[in-house]
Amino acid sequence: MIRLHNLERSYPLGRGQLFYVLRDIDLDIAEGGFVSIMGPSGAGKSTLLHILGMHDHGWTGEYFFEETAMHQLKPNARGTLRNEQIGFVFQQYNLLPALTAAENAAVPLLIAGEYRTKAVRTAKDLLTEVGLEPRMNAYPSQLSGGQQQRVAIARALIHQPRLMVCDEPTAALDAQSGQTVMQLLKRVGVQPDRALIIVTHDSRVYGFGDRIVHMSDGRIERVEEMEAAAA
Ligand SMILES: Nc1ncnc2c1ncn2[C@@H]1O[C@H](COP(=O)(O)OP(=O)(O)OP(=O)(O)O)[C@@H](O)[C@H]1O
Ligand SMILES: [Mg+2]
Repeated sequence: MIRLHNLERSYPLGRGQLFYVLRDIDLDIAEGGFVSIMGPSGAGKSTLLHILGMHDHGWTGEYFFEETAMHQLKPNARGTLRNEQIGFVFQQYNLLPALTAAENAAVPLLIAGEYRTKAVRTAKDLLTEVGLEPRMNAYPSQLSGGQQQRVAIARALIHQPRLMVCDEPTAALDAQSGQTVMQLLKRVGVQPDRALIIVTHDSRVYGFGDRIVHMSDGRIERVEEMEAAAA
């Protein structure tokens, strides 16, 4: 489903020098795959995730998303593909404070042009599935961290994206809520025709993926294949 070849990302350091944040990245991700990206702070994990999620355009190399050659698309064509095909979950939830849980979860459908009543109805079904039925009309400030992250997960999934990318989705949560969120991600995010990619520092997340990509200093050090993934 995804193929990266010789992907690089650098920033100018001045005097014509470049600072390489990602180097020589080769990675294939299959449909149904659940990949965790781990590594020390500054290794390039978020940078790689933002490129995969079509949010960062300053890279070189090859990125195939199914048969689409991303490296040949203009940024606004990538933006269209991103809105249709990618779901994002961030460490800090990024919910809109003036919208209720149901309205927040409905946002990707509204962007896609769906009618508001239908979008909110779909969002409510999904929030029920993530265990938030009693809190659907609450505002983010009235929800716990774990509840907000479940709203964010519903929002990321609502338009049925092919790829879901999550940057440290459990980092702001206590152990119990983190576990709930990971189980939820696995239950709703892993589907035969989709891929799920999670960046994490958190060794508690370790058992969840079917592959772990270990990064350091902007490179993939090794890819660890997991046995039948833990529940
Ligand atoms: N806009 C930028 N300009 C210059 N360097 C940058 C920029 N954005 C990120 N970097 C550098 O890129 C490197 C990788 O950053 P990235 O955010 O991908 O790390 P990370 O692995 O996600 O780290 P963490 O675990 O702390 O989130 C870091 O050294 C960072 O300082
Ligand atoms: Mg990061």
